Amino acid sequence: MTTFTPRVFSGMQPTGNLHLGNYLGAMLNWIKLQETQECIYCVVDMHAITLWQEPKELHKAILEVTAAYLACGLDPKRSIIFNQSQVQEHAELAWIFNCVARMGWLNRMTQFKEKAGKDKEQASVGLYVYPNLMAADILAYKATHVPVGEDQKQHLELARDIAGKFNLDFGDAIREAGYNGDFFPLPEPFIIGPATRVMSLRDGAKKMSKSDPSDLSRINLSDDADTIARKIRKAKTDTDGLPSEAAGLKGRPEAENLVGIHAALSGQSVEQVLAQFGGGQFSRLKEALAELSVAKLGPIGRETRRLKADPGHVEGILADGSARARAIAAPILREVRKIVGFVVS
Ligand code: TRP
Repeated sequence: MTTFTPRVFSGMQPTGNLHLGNYLGAMLNWIKLQETQECIYCVVDMHAITLWQEPKELHKAILEVTAAYLACGLDPKRSIIFNQSQVQEHAELAWIFNCVARMGWLNRMTQFKEKAGKDKEQASVGLYVYPNLMAADILAYKATHVPVGEDQKQHLELARDIAGKFNLDFGDAIREAGYNGDFFPLPEPFIIGPATRVMSLRDGAKKMSKSDPSDLSRINLSDDADTIARKIRKAKTDTDGLPSEAAGLKGRPEAENLVGIHAALSGQSVEQVLAQFGGGQFSRLKEALAELSVAKLGPIGRETRRLKADPGHVEGILADGSARARAIAAPILREVRKIVGFVVS
């Protein structure tokens, strides 16, 4: 067995604004990882066009998501921050993986079924092979660890299957090329636990989502302080007071969500939050949460807006990140071409 140098890769789509769910669910984790790991964080614009995007909107969204990455604390000196389409190796490896992955594997992907809806005949072919591109994103860097939400677990398993099948199918060529074991690592998921699942502020049974038609359902990272406070105050609650124990949150998704958000933002456990607010009215928790959210997210919103007003700076970060990403991916793809049998000059 080959041991691979640990390397983290993850990505988000540039569609809509980032919100509190992205921040608590993914971003905090990404920021922590960059302190100890080599990390590559991608704005996956090629994934975005699997559903049609208005070109001007897409362009703006790529810069906005990058601005939000930076405002949250991803450090372009430490980590590589770039947009996918500027590194052609992703598309090239995705093609090879289209020829490694099996139809049967993709037919099992639940996200395709959800996104394609009833009329599969009208879905883009890109939406169908999306998981192969995701595998290419990761493996173009031989990344070993991938922080993703629960909803991406199946795609990550597919990436492992693709890596494994490539290693097997081309085993002889891989050994002839001088590797004494596998060419690709089997990337490990870091599944971000259910504790950080942030739900809609209007319906505790739904995930906080950028596609929810109600803006009151989510806190965008670009919201200003007043908007943040207003959304928390208006958040849906039930009519009971707050329990003093975590068990009392069962079956009360709105209460559980607000307590969970407070815990995540204040770095406490749910029990600690309930020790402080349990037995009291919701309004007390909401006031404290509004204040805490403004304190934590207000500066991120300000920095996001400042960076959005300076697109040249953000483009410069992406150009630099793309060059550094390419420097890793290009030699790996050169090896892949040789292993597959292409003539490489
Ligand atoms: N499919 C992921 C999502 O929608 C985004 C993504 C694309 C990704 N490529 C990736 C995540 C590679 C991790 C690694 O959330």
